[in-house]
Amino acid sequence: MKTLALFGSTGSIGKQTLEVLRAFPGEFEVVGLTALTNAELLAEQAASLHVQTFLAPTPEQIDALIDRADYVINAVPGFDGLAISLAAVNAGKILLSANKESLAIAGRFLRELAQKTGAEIRPLDSEASAIWQLLTEHEEISSVTLTCSGGPFRGLTTAELASVTIEQALAHPTWKMGPKVSIDSATLINKILEVYEVHNLFDIPLKDIHITIHPQSLVHSMVHTKTGATKMHITQNDMRLFISYALHYPEQPDCPWPIERHRRSEMDFTPPDSKTFRSLQWFELHKGNPNFPIILNALNDLAVARFLRGEISFLGIYDFIEKGLERYLWETPPSSLEEMLRFHGKIQAGFRTPIM
Ligand SMILES: NC(=O)c1ccc[n+]([C@@H]2O[C@H](COP(=O)([O-])OP(=O)(O)OC[C@H]3O[C@@H](n4cnc5c(N)ncnc54)[C@H](OP(=O)(O)O)[C@@H]3O)[C@@H](O)[C@H]2O)c1
Repeated sequence: MKTLALFGSTGSIGKQTLEVLRAFPGEFEVVGLTALTNAELLAEQAASLHVQTFLAPTPEQIDALIDRADYVINAVPGFDGLAISLAAVNAGKILLSANKESLAIAGRFLRELAQKTGAEIRPLDSEASAIWQLLTEHEEISSVTLTCSGGPFRGLTTAELASVTIEQALAHPTWKMGPKVSIDSATLINKILEVYEVHNLFDIPLKDIHITIHPQSLVHSMVHTKTGATKMHITQNDMRLFISYALHYPEQPDCPWPIERHRRSEMDFTPPDSKTFRSLQWFELHKGNPNFPIILNALNDLAVARFLRGEISFLGIYDFIEKGLERYLWETPPSSLEEMLRFHGKIQAGFRTPIM
């Protein structure tokens, strides 16, 4: 039986991963689970699986757990997820990463390392997984489009965004997710991270990755071929389908969950509103600068945490990042993983105190 370590088992992706494993009994043996603070749920999960658990695991504990696993699932949000991706790739394991942040800022370095260690990196994020599933070896592509629900504030003006609450920002219209990714979806910074994730994983030039607003979240990505065709990946918005795909790749079992094949649904595709969601303006301005995703991610981690603690407003997230962005854009870009880690640390150290 294949062995599996699940980092972030008490979260949205973690819990859905356990559901997928239950749907395929006897295929995977879980060797360990981790969480940050939710000791109660972690103990409950461990009791039913009879496995080792770690709360806020140390680097040594992460390594020890990964050592015992063939498959490593990274369902930890934010920059902290990079330590898990890095340890898994270093150890030559099959990494299934829902953590898009590590793939967005260090995907290329992780892939280079994987070539040396024999590790494999598989995305769990629906958009990146959809691109993975749509790409074929025999077909040349001209570009790809990532779909975006638009988040809970689609259609609002900047003036209306000024007074939105934390609860409203957390209430994603089509996906039920953890707090960090929910806020990133509301600011659309999530989509920018996904563009870099896809760029790094599949070597698609940034100029060929487009974003479209698709409120129904049924199409997860599109691939435009050189012959003028567009291929779409369409499924119900259920992360278990993407988790199961990555776990079973390349041979796929029949889907164990009911699929609504005849659901009536409109499908809209419209350009994003970059005037209101100004993260998209920064992206257009700076996307070719390799420092941009690293700075954006480092500042965004801090800004989202502040917003969730009630220290800044929703628009304050944009203000916070905007004020910090320019400071590091023109530094020499990191040329190794170690330099990237140092760069991230330097940015965050410079902004731990409020920016005036
Ligand atoms: N949820 C989705 O549908 C979805 C879809 C695509 C991609 N993703 C990506 O998947 C990742 C996880 O998202 P999620 O929605 O599952 O998050 P979540 O619900 O907040 O769960 C996060 C999990 O990681 C643990 N954790 C949080 N911070 C940690 C840290 N600093 N160190 C170690 N463990 C930590 C949490 O433990 P506690 O419970 O103890 O806090 C929890 O088990 C994110 O990168 C997100 O962008 C999520």
